[in-house]
Amino acid sequence: MAHILVTGGAGFIGSNFVHHLVGRTEHRVTVLDALTYAGNLASLAGLPAERVTFVKGDISDAALVDRLVSETDAVVHFAAESHNDNSLHDPRPFLQTNIVGTFTLLEAVRRHDRRFHHISTDEVYGDLELDDPRRFTESTPYNPSSPYSATKAGSDMLVRAWVRSFGIQATISNCSNNYGPYQHVEKFIPRQITNVLRGQRPKLYGRGENVRDWIHTEDHSSAVLTILENGVIGETYLIGADGERSNMDVVGLILRLLGEPADAYDHVVDRAGHDLRYAIDSSKLRTELGWAPAFGDFESGLAATIEWYRENESWWAPAKDAAERFYASKGQ
Ligand code: NAD
Ligand code: TYD
Repeated sequence: MAHILVTGGAGFIGSNFVHHLVGRTEHRVTVLDALTYAGNLASLAGLPAERVTFVKGDISDAALVDRLVSETDAVVHFAAESHNDNSLHDPRPFLQTNIVGTFTLLEAVRRHDRRFHHISTDEVYGDLELDDPRRFTESTPYNPSSPYSATKAGSDMLVRAWVRSFGIQATISNCSNNYGPYQHVEKFIPRQITNVLRGQRPKLYGRGENVRDWIHTEDHSSAVLTILENGVIGETYLIGADGERSNMDVVGLILRLLGEPADAYDHVVDRAGHDLRYAIDSSKLRTELGWAPAFGDFESGLAATIEWYRENESWWAPAKDAAERFYASKGQ
């Protein structure tokens, strides 16, 4: 049994990981989260108080981070500014949290010699053409497009440098697009589901041909736990579940599952610098660490996610109007 510090544990993927850890292990968990607009304590409701402690604070607060790292055995680092559209509007918090925040954690991990797992994204690799037979692998060169992906790429490089120069015990994972419960309504899938639930039409950027490689957040959690337990120090692992779909396909599926006509969506202004396609080759994680995704079927995972948003309007409704006001101001 260990005591794990989970940064960003009140966000989408972090909160799902905390539920996963509590359900699958005996570990104790301390969550460090600043509760920005993206953090929500309600995502941690129902967890046993004797296993999970919540600390409200910033990962750039060196004194707080030093104390929490010294009191725990390992750090799983999810905290980030995570939304591309926000990073195009105001990049500064992305540099502060994703770069300075990660640096602050690395320095504490170095002082106290703790195990560190860094959560990152496939967006550090840039994008692929629609007809490119290749997928991203651990050796694909970094080529980020947005302030968000550039700061995540920078944070990955910091982790690699701290492993090489200071010998910290760190691993990195780069995962594809997640879906599932507790995802903020600013993101693509929850935005479209909650639009339809409110009688609004889904909004597709540009022509809707962009492809994302979807993975259920529960599969992301099981992969991170596998790497934490069995990953080789200094290594990077790509996480993906062979879930490539165009945005238009996903919107069509959401409309069908909610009983609406397949063409009841709007095309809106495209995202600046919009990455065309992401695709992950996760063979290394599967062959070297024996991981496999459990949610093979995107359609049934999406149907369950739709049910979750239908049943949990009180969780998402408070954030919906502000998110839509932001998009309306951009013509999206
Ligand atoms: P999210 O925006 O839902 O959650 C981020 C959490 O971090 C929030 O709870 C927020 O309050 C917290 N936070 C932000 N700044 C902080 C700070 N300075 N100090 C402490 N806490 C802070 O994001 P998410 O979608 O759950 O993403 C989590 C991680 O996974 C990120 O590192 C992201 O880059 C990575 N990732 C996300 C996806 C995806 O599809 N969403 C895919 C691959 C990787
Ligand atoms: P998003 O959830 O923001 O994730 P990411 O930018 O990290 O891939 O967007 C997923 C895809 O959906 C991306 O191609 C942009 C597109 N998109 C829309 O078409 N409409 C929307 O309202 C949003 C939020 C995103």
